[in-house]
Amino acid sequence: MPETTPKGLTGLAFGGDYNPEQWPQSVWHEDVRLMREAGVTMLSVGVFSWALLEPEPGTYAFGWLDRVLDLLHENGVRVALGTPTVAPPAWFYRAHPDALPVAADGTRYEFGSRGAICHSNAEYRTAAADITTRLAMRYADHPALALWHVHNEYGVPVSACYCESCAVWFRRWLSRTYQTVDALNEAWGTAFWGQRYADFDQINPPRVTPTVGNPAQALDYRRFADATMRENFTAERDILHRLAPGIPVTTNFMTALSQCDSVDYWAWGREVDLVANDHYLITDGRRTHVNLAMAADLTRSVAGGAPWLLLEHATSGVSWQPRNPAKAPGQMARNSLAHVARGSDGAMFFQWRQSRRGAEKFHSAMLPHAGTDSRVWREVVELGASVDALAQVRGTRTVADVAMLWDWHSWWAQSLQWRPSEDHDPRERADAFYEALYDRHLTVDFAHPEADLSAYPLVVVPALYLTTSAAGDNLKEYVAGGGTLVVSYFSGIVDEHDALHEGPHPGPLRDVLGLTVEEFSPLLKDDRVRVLRTPGRSPAVAGEDRELIGDVWTEFVVPRGAETICTYGDGLTAGHPAITRHRLGQGSAWYVSTRLTSRGLDTLLGWAADDARIAPRAELPPEVEVVRRTGESGTFLFVINHAATDAKVPLDAPGAELLTGERAATCLALPPGAVRVVRLDG
Ligand code: GAL
Repeated sequence: MPETTPKGLTGLAFGGDYNPEQWPQSVWHEDVRLMREAGVTMLSVGVFSWALLEPEPGTYAFGWLDRVLDLLHENGVRVALGTPTVAPPAWFYRAHPDALPVAADGTRYEFGSRGAICHSNAEYRTAAADITTRLAMRYADHPALALWHVHNEYGVPVSACYCESCAVWFRRWLSRTYQTVDALNEAWGTAFWGQRYADFDQINPPRVTPTVGNPAQALDYRRFADATMRENFTAERDILHRLAPGIPVTTNFMTALSQCDSVDYWAWGREVDLVANDHYLITDGRRTHVNLAMAADLTRSVAGGAPWLLLEHATSGVSWQPRNPAKAPGQMARNSLAHVARGSDGAMFFQWRQSRRGAEKFHSAMLPHAGTDSRVWREVVELGASVDALAQVRGTRTVADVAMLWDWHSWWAQSLQWRPSEDHDPRERADAFYEALYDRHLTVDFAHPEADLSAYPLVVVPALYLTTSAAGDNLKEYVAGGGTLVVSYFSGIVDEHDALHEGPHPGPLRDVLGLTVEEFSPLLKDDRVRVLRTPGRSPAVAGEDRELIGDVWTEFVVPRGAETICTYGDGLTAGHPAITRHRLGQGSAWYVSTRLTSRGLDTLLGWAADDARIAPRAELPPEVEVVRRTGESGTFLFVINHAATDAKVPLDAPGAELLTGERAATCLALPPGAVRVVRLDG
C-alpha cells in the first residue's frame, strides 16, 4: 500500500509554492530565515521548472534544485516536489509543435503561458515520463522529500484538445467502450438528423458544427478527455511509485465547480495517494466562506472522508478575477482554519514570496511585496503559530450530518445545449441547497449517486439531470430503509448517453418519489409563482410565510402515491402539486418542482429534517461555523465566527481551547471574526 501522508511531517502542513528560481540565491537565505519565523513546515517546489531543469534536450541542470532542497532540509522544511510536466520548455514545442493543443474551432494554442498540452501527444508523453524518471532517480532518497506534486491542476486552463491525434485516440476509446459502431449509433441516437456512422473512422471530436451537435458525442468527449488526462497522471504516478517507494503522490485538484468542471474527481480521488486541493475565493458578491466550506466538504468526500491537503489558497487578493479585493483582517485565518476544520491536514498557499515579474505579480503571497512590515506577513506568522498548535488534529476525520448527491457526468450532460430553460442553472441549485444546509449548521458529505447512503439520515439531490437506473434503485433502497430524501426538479431525466429514460419523467426516480411529471413548464424571466401550503397537509413550521415563492421552473406533477404538500398558486400550473412527499417503507421522499427562494428552501429542509429526526441547532448563532473532527487523538470542535458581532456557543463538554491555551467550560465566547478550536474532554 502506498503511503498516504507526507513523509516526515509530524504536524500539519504549513507553507506554499516556493519558486526560488525567480530570485537570486542571496534571497534564498532570507527566505529560509523568514520561513522559520513563520513556522513553515512544507513547500511545493519545482512545479513549473522544466525549462530550468532541462535547458536543452537531454541536458540536465539539477544543481540549483539540489541546493534548494538541501537548504530547505537544513532548515527543517519538508518538500512536495513538483513534476514540471504542466510547462514543457520552448525547445520542446519547437521540436514538437503538435504537442500544442487545438481548440474546438481549430485554433492551435501558442507557447508562452502554461498548461498548453495535448494529452494524447506521443512526444509529450515520452518527454513527461523522461523528466519524471530523472527527478525520481535524483531525489528519491533526498531527506527533504515528503510528497510528489504531479503536474498542476489537470483540466485547467485547457480541458480538452480537438486535434487529429485526439481524433484517433477518441475513435480508439469509442471502439473500446462500444465494441461495435451499431452500439454507438444506438447510444448516441444518430438516427436523429441523419448522423449514422458506418465505421468508427468516420467519427471526429465534437468540433464546431453549424448548429447544435450530437449531445451524446459531446458528453463522451468529456469522458474521453478526462480519462486521457488521468492516464497521463497515472503514468507519472507509477514511475514515482516504482523509483521512490514510500513517498506519496498527489496532484492538486480544484474541486470548486466554478474553478474546474472538466475533471471527474470521484475517479481521480481513487488514483492519488493523498487528495490535495486548491481553493480561491470567487468574489462575485456571494458569501465566500460558504463556497469555501462547500469546496472543502467536496474535497473531503472525494477523499472518501479521509484527511486531505489544502495545497493552495491565497493570503489575500488573487489577480485573475475582474476585481480582486484584499482579504479583510482575520479572514485569511478563518479561511485556512475552515479548510482544516473540514478535513485538511494543513494550509498551504500560492505562493511563498510574491513575484516581481510575470503574469501573477499582483497575486498576494505569504511574504508580500511590502515585506515583513505588513499586515499580511503578521497574520501569516500568527497563522503559522495556530497551525502548529493544531498538530494533534492531524489524521482525525470530519463528522458529517447529511449527504448531497454529486456527479460530474451529470454536470457535463446538464451543460449541453438546448434545454428547456437557460435560467435553470443546476450549479446554482447545488449552491443554494448547500447554503441552506450550512445555515442550519449541518455539515455536508457529498456522495456519488450510486454510493451507499445508509449512514445519512437525510440525502438531498439538488440537480441530478443524468440519473442511472442503478442510482434510482439505490435511492429507493435508501428511502425504503428509513432514509429521508429531498429531490429538486429536472432530476432523473436522462441515462448515461443523455437519452431520456423510457416512460414518463423522472425515469428511475418515479418509484421512489411516487409521482410522474407530465410536462415541464419553465417560467419567463422575472415570473414568479406562489407555492401554497395544502390545508391540513403541510407540516407546521415556524415563521410567518403562509406561502413560498418559486421562479424559473414549474411542472405538471401527477402524484402516484405521493401526497401533495403544496400546490401552485399561479400560472399555468395553478392548482397542481408543487411540493410532494412520498412515504415509502420506513422513509420518505420529498420532491420540489420549482426553484424555491432561500426562505422556501429553508422551510422545505425544515420539514425534511423533521422526518429525518435531525434536531434544529437553534442554540447556534447565525454566521457561526461549527465543525467537528474526531479520531484517535480526540474530538476537536472548530468554531469560526464570521459575524461582526460577539457570539456564544454552548459546548456539550468542557475542553482545552488550543489557539488561546485557555480552558473552555460550558460556553465558548467568540469576538467578531475569531476562530477557536476546542479539544473536548473525554
Ligand atoms: C492556481 C495555480 C497557481 C497559481 C494560482 C493563482 O490555480 O495552481 O500556480 O496560478 O492559481 O491563484
